[in-house]
Amino acid sequence: MNLVHTIAELRALLPEAGRCAFVPTMGNLHEGHLSLTRQAARHGLPVVASIFVNRLQFAPHEDFDRYPRTLQRDCELLEAAQCDIVFAPDERELYPQPQAFKVQPDPALGDILEGHFRPGFFTGVCTVVMKLFGCVRPKVAVFGKKDYQQLMVIRRMVEQLAMDVAIEAGETRRADSGLALSSRNGYLSDAQRAKAVELVGALRSLGVRYREAPHQRDRLEAQAIESLASRGWAPDYLTVRRRSDLGVPTDAGEPLVVLGAARLATTRLIDNVEV
Ligand code: PAF
Repeated sequence: MNLVHTIAELRALLPEAGRCAFVPTMGNLHEGHLSLTRQAARHGLPVVASIFVNRLQFAPHEDFDRYPRTLQRDCELLEAAQCDIVFAPDERELYPQPQAFKVQPDPALGDILEGHFRPGFFTGVCTVVMKLFGCVRPKVAVFGKKDYQQLMVIRRMVEQLAMDVAIEAGETRRADSGLALSSRNGYLSDAQRAKAVELVGALRSLGVRYREAPHQRDRLEAQAIESLASRGWAPDYLTVRRRSDLGVPTDAGEPLVVLGAARLATTRLIDNVEV
């Protein structure tokens, strides 16, 4: 496996566009990222993983500075997961000047849920993903369903900007307890980690209740939020949405996803379940 830090080194290894499968990450990898990497490897193309903690998608009060940088361990894990090239640029390489050109997502998708609670987040994500696509020039890129809205925003960006890359979804990986694997789980104490599974429990239970009484959606969502709050969480949202566009469902028969974000002490966790 090759580790490269510059676009020129990457291009020397991948002279032709459209010749690789790509997994963008911010590092501090876990089994979720590795399963996306193994999925990318099934295309029979060279696999590139990027590791870049993207300042543009963090608000000033968020965890950019303390986000764990674990490059050496990440490279060992990626090598074992059939990655061929790790692209780990520093900020000067990716943002040599202040990034004035930005990709503004469709507000109907980018300003709701995560975008509502983290203004500017998806602009930061789309801008860096577009830039990484420009560097790596992949044929296919794999994004995890754990960040469900991110996956949809990227799909819409690629569609609307006619970008020549196929976006593939990877399933969320969970611990035996049901807790979705996430780099931010590392901020949790053992006791908090055991408790963190309550989030997916709340989402699953909201999905079941909604299926039983779809016309009660507002009440069921409010109850789910209250119930999680009574157990010591600070929820931002727990909500049932259409899978197709994350809009509010109008027909109970359509494919749905229940999404949630809530803070446990100082750690904000997100999760979702398709129902
Ligand atoms: O999901 C992530 O880790 C990041 O948002 C991504 C897609 C690598 C962009 O920085």
